[in-house]
Amino acid sequence: MNNQPLKVAVLGCGVVGTEVVRRLRASHAALADRIGAPVEIAGIAVRDPRRPRGLDIDPALFTNDPLELVKRDDVDIVVELLGGIEPTHSLVAAAMEHGASVVSANKALVAAYGPELHGAAARAGVDLLYEAAVAGAVPLLRPLRDSLGGDEVTRIVGIVNGTTNYILDRMTQKGSAFDAELRQAIERGYAEADPTADVEGADAAAKAVILASLAFHTWVPPAEVYREGITGVTVQDVADARAHDCVVKLLAVLERTAGEDDVMVRVHPAMVPRTHPLADVGGADNAVVVEAAGAGRLLFRGAGAGGTPTASAVVGDLVTAARRRLLGHRETASPATVTGRVRAMSDVRSRYHLSVPVTDSVVALDDIAAVLRAHDVRVDSVQRRRTAGPDAWVLVTEVSGESALRAAVQAIAGLPSVGAAPRFLRMLEPVEEEAAVG
Ligand code: HSE
Repeated sequence: MNNQPLKVAVLGCGVVGTEVVRRLRASHAALADRIGAPVEIAGIAVRDPRRPRGLDIDPALFTNDPLELVKRDDVDIVVELLGGIEPTHSLVAAAMEHGASVVSANKALVAAYGPELHGAAARAGVDLLYEAAVAGAVPLLRPLRDSLGGDEVTRIVGIVNGTTNYILDRMTQKGSAFDAELRQAIERGYAEADPTADVEGADAAAKAVILASLAFHTWVPPAEVYREGITGVTVQDVADARAHDCVVKLLAVLERTAGEDDVMVRVHPAMVPRTHPLADVGGADNAVVVEAAGAGRLLFRGAGAGGTPTASAVVGDLVTAARRRLLGHRETASPATVTGRVRAMSDVRSRYHLSVPVTDSVVALDDIAAVLRAHDVRVDSVQRRRTAGPDAWVLVTEVSGESALRAAVQAIAGLPSVGAAPRFLRMLEPVEEEAAVG
């Protein structure tokens, strides 16, 4: 192997960055064989270069000037692990302008600036790769872009946030409350610097934007992704789900009607039947079901968060970018080639689990039934829940329109026999029936 070493600048040395650097050092010879040239670290940009990081590495490689690092002429690939939007966006743009390919794990950045960054990569003739940005270690973006590049993806349903899956899984296993499990997820390094992005669904929404760009070839503005997080999911919701042989999961759901450009992209908790392939995805794992016209149903599943798994995907991209650089191949095209309308949440059709606290059970049931009938929401099952607090009626609807359901819920909340605002959760169909509901 006579090729010159490829120089890599690493921006950020947190949980993932430390693992990337460790892997580049530990697998130096093997990576050189796979790539066709050795990979050397040109520098590591961190806030405090003197902070001990447990890495056996020349301290002179650390710098607190990321801009100076990415502009260096000898840097071939920049690995961006800073997170956040600014100054990361400016640094990534500067890196590409100066001729470096970029590997990033930053879903928020790609979701917000994907079209612009791909344009900059095309102009500079460099690669922009971000496999680690969605579903951690699970190879998902490259299969969507390349392996399914000739197919028509029609639907994606996935668990794409490890933190919330960990929290909901623990709530399901232990019957514990949200707050305690969030603390555990933060301690394990699954959560974002600001865990609000995880628990309010923004992290999953950014990942859904990226999935839509690759699966449906359209960039959906993050603000147009319907989003509900899990902060409101209660111990009672988890128990209700169990009573219906379901588990509560935070889902990203992406749909496109075959032959049309319009898309639906949404993130919300849902009751998932235990027979569904997403139901037994535990801990911080992610899993994504992709349906394509030709390929049929495919399942991608594995570690969705954490330093070591995420570093695996980052180093994988680095190997790809390095090989392509050696061969003179460059990614030039944005994955998105069409402009699709984003369909409104009111277009959703689903079964719904409704929980209605009541002050007078008998009167309330009659009133609730009348309201649902008036809104053309049909009921599949009704149960009375007696608790230490107020009684509640628990209803499961047949497949209904979201706008009708919401209007009915609002009307039910105003009934004198109803004690507090009803709570509703969407229910995912068992897998064999899913395709019929959109
Ligand atoms: N906070 C993210 C998650 C990290 O929990 O999924 C991986 O993107």
